[in-house]
Amino acid sequence: MVTRATRSRSTTEAVAPPGSRGLIRWVAKAGSRGGRFRIPIRTVGGPRDGYFHLDWVKCATRLSSRQCDEIIRTGEGFAPEAPTVVGENILSAHRVGHVRLLPDVAQTEPIYRLLWDVAADAANRHYGLAITGITRMPHYVEYHAGYGHFHWHNDYSHESQESPRKLTVIVQLSDGDDYDGGDLQVFNVAPEAMPRERGTIICLPSFVTHRVTPVSAGVRRIVVAWIAGPRLV
Ligand SMILES: [Fe+2]
Repeated sequence: MVTRATRSRSTTEAVAPPGSRGLIRWVAKAGSRGGRFRIPIRTVGGPRDGYFHLDWVKCATRLSSRQCDEIIRTGEGFAPEAPTVVGENILSAHRVGHVRLLPDVAQTEPIYRLLWDVAADAANRHYGLAITGITRMPHYVEYHAGYGHFHWHNDYSHESQESPRKLTVIVQLSDGDDYDGGDLQVFNVAPEAMPRERGTIICLPSFVTHRVTPVSAGVRRIVVAWIAGPRLV
């Protein structure tokens, strides 16, 4: 059983204004790459890899089931939160699911590093985006049948004018056959569903409109992180 980790580093939370819970300042430490979630990092997508467009890319290598199980156990070790979404006061059912924040602590460092490495590869190889770190705690989310969806939205910065969220990274921790519905889709000519295979790591520009369709059976488990950088110019 995973025990609740204590914070090993200070975050900006203590001085953050109300409504800013979860804000952090995480940057990748040089030489810390690796750990138990180390996999080959090469993102594929877009025309050069035989895809139609670059709305999203994925890591060519998937996490193993054992690695997915470990991330799930880590996520389950933190307290549930109420889901948050901008405008939730007028869109109360826009995002429905069980959310746990992954704080910036030693226990989660390998997860942060994995998410960062995938985003950094996608930023360099495909998108040409400057990124600098993670400014909001990643979320471990469970979408249960009858209580799991996220309507059309984008993730682009709301909390920081200077360091907007530019890339969204999502890890599919459930096997795609273990739940019905729960498709992660981007908005295009027609909604395009992204891969469901367990261990798939998907990266998309945070300003691309996307959604999660309602889960009608089973449970979809994911981790999502948003990678920030300088404002687009
Ligand atoms: Fe999103």
